[in-house]
Amino acid sequence: MNIGIIGGSGLYNIEGLSFVEKININTKYGKPSDSYKIYRRGSLNYYFLARHGEKHSIVPHKINYRANIAGFKELGVNKIVSFCAVGSLDIKYTPSTIMVPDNAIDFTHGRDFTFFDEKRVFHIDISNPFCSILRNLLGKILHKNKITFVDGGVYVCTNGPRLETAAEVKMFRALGGDIVGMTLFPELVLAREAELCYANMSVVTNFGAGISKNKLTTAEVKQNMKNNNSIINNIVYALADELKGIESCSVCPMALNDTKA
Ligand code: HPA
Repeated sequence: MNIGIIGGSGLYNIEGLSFVEKININTKYGKPSDSYKIYRRGSLNYYFLARHGEKHSIVPHKINYRANIAGFKELGVNKIVSFCAVGSLDIKYTPSTIMVPDNAIDFTHGRDFTFFDEKRVFHIDISNPFCSILRNLLGKILHKNKITFVDGGVYVCTNGPRLETAAEVKMFRALGGDIVGMTLFPELVLAREAELCYANMSVVTNFGAGISKNKLTTAEVKQNMKNNNSIINNIVYALADELKGIESCSVCPMALNDTKA
């Protein structure tokens, strides 16, 4: 069995698993952010990709999301768990809060956001943008590891690379957002278009602009993300045990059925 792991800011490899090899792919959409690092535990192959490149050299709006997802598909991955560093839109979600979001709002622009922009016309359903089976599995692992987390929440995706104004943070909160980041879109849409199961775990690294009195710094975001890497490594490690008994998803692998316009 194969699983794809996408690491966000501060996560560039997985500790505690045996490393097999690195694979470089060139897809029809161009080059993915980095090589895919393969790790193995039991019968599970992990394909790990650093979304921003290994040296964190790719800004959110320049990531080749299509190549990243197409690469996973080429490698035979049908499930992806992604990790993101996010800001909090609510005082109750303090830095280090872990959230497994269940919905999302897209404020990005100018990105290549679909596989279907020529010849074929599909209108994919993303009412529930995350795979519910994979989401529940993440929740189960967090629960088993006694890690407190917020089960469900709305991820607002901005274009970046700048952070938000205080007024934008207020607006995102008023619109129903809980956390704000720069990389979930178009990643999750492309995963659905590629008929892959996709779930996300986000780690709050800072309060959104205007919520805290302190000025936001990239150093703060990176340090907080690094601090959470051991939790992320434990979750990724546990996937090999928990994926064994997972029921098969009847939604994501059939996402294109009846959507052709
Ligand atoms: N805003 C947007 N993206 C982010 C933030 C933020 O405050 N923190 C980490 N990623």
